[in-house]
Amino acid sequence: MTDAEVRGERIVVFDTTLRDGEQSPGATLTADEKLEVADALVQLGVDVIEAGFPAASPGDFEAVRAIAERAKGTTVAGLARAIEGDIERAAQAVKGAESPRIHTFISSSDIHLTHQIRMSREDVLERVTASVAYAKKFTSDVEFSAMDATRSDHEYLARVFGRAIAAGATTINVPDTVGYTTPGEFAALIAFLRDRVPGINDVVISVHCHDDLGMATANTLAAIGAGARQAEVTINGIGERAGNTSLEELVMALAIRGAEFGGATTRVETERLVPTSRLVSTLTGLQVQANKAIVGANAFAHESGIHQDGMLKNRTTFEIMSPTDVGWEGTKLVLGKHSGRAGFRSTLAEVGLRLDDDQLNAAYQRFLVLADRKKSVTAADLVALVSDYLGAAEDGFELVRWNASIGSAGPATASVVLRSGVGDLVGDGEGNGAVNALLQAIDAATGLECELENYQVEAVTPGEDAQGQVTVRIRANERVFSGHGLATDVVEASARAYLAALSKVERGAPAATVSDQLV
Ligand code: KIV
Ligand code: ZN
Repeated sequence: MTDAEVRGERIVVFDTTLRDGEQSPGATLTADEKLEVADALVQLGVDVIEAGFPAASPGDFEAVRAIAERAKGTTVAGLARAIEGDIERAAQAVKGAESPRIHTFISSSDIHLTHQIRMSREDVLERVTASVAYAKKFTSDVEFSAMDATRSDHEYLARVFGRAIAAGATTINVPDTVGYTTPGEFAALIAFLRDRVPGINDVVISVHCHDDLGMATANTLAAIGAGARQAEVTINGIGERAGNTSLEELVMALAIRGAEFGGATTRVETERLVPTSRLVSTLTGLQVQANKAIVGANAFAHESGIHQDGMLKNRTTFEIMSPTDVGWEGTKLVLGKHSGRAGFRSTLAEVGLRLDDDQLNAAYQRFLVLADRKKSVTAADLVALVSDYLGAAEDGFELVRWNASIGSAGPATASVVLRSGVGDLVGDGEGNGAVNALLQAIDAATGLECELENYQVEAVTPGEDAQGQVTVRIRANERVFSGHGLATDVVEASARAYLAALSKVERGAPAATVSDQLV
């Protein structure tokens, strides 16, 4: 991207699904799942992928390193607190990227300075200079964030950003960390900073909004109207607490109403929005609400008679964009068991999934089994099938055999055989239904203690032969883990989902979050 593009109407789309998004409770992704999401983000056309927080754990470091090596045509950023150790880890992790970025941050509000990091304003200013200058030793592209910027004293915030720019920051990020600001107030803050901070016109102004009051997208758009040129977003708006600005809402707001925001545009391939949303939802286990803008199941559904009548006469009566523009129709690609390996591979590529040869062979075998049971296999089936395969591919428990019997005569009973690193495990269970009995049998086999917090089942596609997709959230060792499972039988899908979550428990605790690291 040229400097002119950055300073002009083109908005830099900075995706933080794999960092802030992964901080959503229970959304921890495996290494393969992160690579799959990164591939989808590259195809979607985001400008920057924030791949993780390398100092948080060896797993996070390795994921950022692998994504940096693989993602082409996009900048890969690693997050680091404003301390040398974090910055070195981030630098090592992103150094293999075509275009590496270190993103360093420190709080600027008095609330955080007093109660959390316990530093004086002067000490923070010195840390800003030292950390940005240190990051510059490793990469020319350095982003600096003033955490809790919107609740900071504005004069002081301007000094903080002035220090970061003087030390070499190329992007300065203004986070609304706690989702507190409003569109008018945020636009005024951006205008104030543009007026007061020396050198600000030579760097990119970025914004990072949280959705605690449901205003993240509106706040981001207001900041763009006031001159911000980078937006930090996540797929489906996932992220800490109420989440972050949703990528699909921002991109489509600019595609449809860009003129209202100074003609701002993005280079995102909008037809990839729905497949990418589905992929992230399946892998994280965070379901998209039906009425969610752009990617919710009802976003283009017309229920009332008056609306249906209008739609039949002319689509523009009740639709401001076409479902095909955001990838809804594109998900109707159909494969059958005679499609062959080449057709399978090219359909996967069309929905944004890239697998290596071994993964492709294994996924193809599962596709053949599915194609035998289901009349037509759609793109949605494929996304679910491949995500399920990747989620289960890492070490963990494998479902070898299961059996459940139910009837009106008494409680349901089930038995299970699992494969694990230490050999085969067997267990029996009894419960108030087939699913409950099978999960009890799995508990008996694994010996792991956990509490089932959430259980959801949905059909991947319409129709009687649809695959059932189950998502579970469990709590174990004070942590939350999610798992998803897929099968044409929902009892089996439930067992697969439960085992995927238990496998994460077995592999150890997920990466610590940014907030864990700060205290
Ligand atoms: O919300 C926030 O302030 C953050 C920073 C680390 C940018 O996520
Ligand atoms: Zn955040």
